[in-house]
Amino acid sequence: MSETELKHAKARAAQLRREIEEHNRRYYEDAAPTISDREYDALYRELVELEQKFPELALRDSPTQRVGGKPLEHFAQITHRTPMLSLENTYSEEEVVEWFQRLQKLLPGQEITVVVEPKVDGVAVSLLFENGALKYAATRGDGRVGDDVTQNVLTIRDVPRQLRGHAPRVLEVRGEVFMTKQGFKKLNEDRAAEGLPLFANPRNSAAGSLKQLDPETVRKRPLGLVLHGIGALEGLEIETYGEGLKLLDKVGLQRSEKTWTCKNVDEILAAIRELDKLRHDFAYETDGAVVKVDSFTQREKAGFTSKAPRWAIAYKYEPERVETKLLDILLQVGRTGTLTPVAALEPVFVSGSTVARATLHNEEEIARKDIRIGDIIVIEKAGEVIPAVVEVKRERRTGSERVFKMPERCPTCGGSVMRDPEQVAVRCINAACPAQLRRRLEHFASRGAMDIEGLGEAMVDQLVSRELAHDVSGIYKLDAEKLATIPRTGEKSITNLLAAIEQSKSRPLWRLLFGLGILHVGATASRTLAEHFHTLDNLMNASADELQRINEIGEVMAASIHRFFNDEQNDALIERLRESGLNFGEKDKYEPKTADEKFAGTTWVITGTLSQPREEIAELILARGGKVAASVSKKTSYVLAGDEAGGKLEKAKTLGVRILSESEFREMLNH
Ligand code: IVH
Repeated sequence: MSETELKHAKARAAQLRREIEEHNRRYYEDAAPTISDREYDALYRELVELEQKFPELALRDSPTQRVGGKPLEHFAQITHRTPMLSLENTYSEEEVVEWFQRLQKLLPGQEITVVVEPKVDGVAVSLLFENGALKYAATRGDGRVGDDVTQNVLTIRDVPRQLRGHAPRVLEVRGEVFMTKQGFKKLNEDRAAEGLPLFANPRNSAAGSLKQLDPETVRKRPLGLVLHGIGALEGLEIETYGEGLKLLDKVGLQRSEKTWTCKNVDEILAAIRELDKLRHDFAYETDGAVVKVDSFTQREKAGFTSKAPRWAIAYKYEPERVETKLLDILLQVGRTGTLTPVAALEPVFVSGSTVARATLHNEEEIARKDIRIGDIIVIEKAGEVIPAVVEVKRERRTGSERVFKMPERCPTCGGSVMRDPEQVAVRCINAACPAQLRRRLEHFASRGAMDIEGLGEAMVDQLVSRELAHDVSGIYKLDAEKLATIPRTGEKSITNLLAAIEQSKSRPLWRLLFGLGILHVGATASRTLAEHFHTLDNLMNASADELQRINEIGEVMAASIHRFFNDEQNDALIERLRESGLNFGEKDKYEPKTADEKFAGTTWVITGTLSQPREEIAELILARGGKVAASVSKKTSYVLAGDEAGGKLEKAKTLGVRILSESEFREMLNH
């Protein structure tokens, strides 16, 4: 290769990179592309080819090594071409048989072929390809509108930007993004080594990964995609799901590795049982089998109930149970000081992973089940949640088992404990207990509360053990010097953490209220309080009576709030937060809840299948000042009719009541 050839290649690659970066920015950040996907792909391919030919040009920060632009501030919303529905679950073979019999009645005299597939325990996504190019990938969201997670989905190796061969004009596919079982294990091992909080299960970590705003973080996660449905399809006619699967194979999209085609209940049940044996060897978690009608014409005939299609059903496998030994009962101290017993188990393999802990809830449960330390117990794991103790093998006792007793002193600080008269809980009453402080700080900084990135379990642990924070106000007294005393904390993470802390100062009041961890006050109650009082000072001055007059606030919660704000230490804490400049509600804007002219005083009847549960649609109407009734009468202003609407729609027609389709309704909402 000549010098000049290399020089030219270098210049061209640099130019391509600049152009691609610019188009990425327009596409991903501004959501306003200026070239077609095809043109973009041509630029991209040219760069890939150049980099392949001259490997010295393949820089690490080349757009070919990454997807998209900078991390997004937030996800754009995408309206699905066809709604993403859910499935009806069953847990017994009889119910599967009944389902099939119902289908036979709905499709009299017809031969019904069904496909049985693994039910992948992942996160539902919808991908749209236009002329073979990926247009977007979106999460289910509310079934109608989801988050645009294209950048993140593109980091998954199973997902092509461009389909193989001759792809249909429009192809919308549905599937599950999953984290491999092995990848999940490794990820948690790495996180444990770094002192980061662990993910509960592969499904949660897949969901958490997809929500990351920075695709670079997602790229490092061991994710995969399995497709199990075809949505919109244009430019090609197919009649069965089986043909759909072939199409997926042809265009290079991954679908489930094993499917069964069955023509009667015996075959269906045999497939379900066989899958149960095979599924533990799959790379992803499965929690059941999905049985679905093959023919699209038959699917259409079978139709939908209000929630799910009649043409498919999910059979969930029994959660796995195994025996193990209860080695000890440990105590965890929560943020309000509650001592929660946790079972320490002889590690045992169940539902695809090794477990060493099980939940025990409280002392009462331990006594009721007569669980003793040293017992052989049976634990059950449903999905990937923390297992529960379901049985004690009393006949296997040797006499050396010990009855568990709640300690008189806190296992962390040695302070006295008190039995909560309202609850079964036992609490450590030392407000300075480091275990409580850890939990309080973690809660305050958590995503649902003040959302301070970088202030997770490991960092909180450091702050408490080094006495860098004595309460949540200590977070706002941190500086680079103090943080630099923590080992393995680099300059960059210090800057980021301080910036995140600074940002948190202007979070809305309800987040601060929730973050304070007032006993019994959750996120919803915090929102209610913020909406009612607007500022923290108004709330602090409220009497218990005044609090209780608010609809959603009960007696116990009102008393707890009143107690919290009439405590000297809490007062001092709040003053310190005020000094640090936190938003106490002054910066928040509250939309006055005015009725919508078009809805005020109207009465609605909702019928048929809609893209959202009826209760949620009813909420939308109620929030705008309308009413919702169960049956159609002359007084009905509108009938909102979804698919398969029956009697109510007919009645509306005879009474001359105005009938709206879902899209007309949505339009009315939006204007
Ligand atoms: S078919 C109308 N097939 O499970 C919905 N779904 O609990 C048709 N899922 O919403 C869905 N594996 O997100 C289908 N092989 C499979 C599946 C599957 C997992 C998910 C899907 C669905 C949910 C219902």
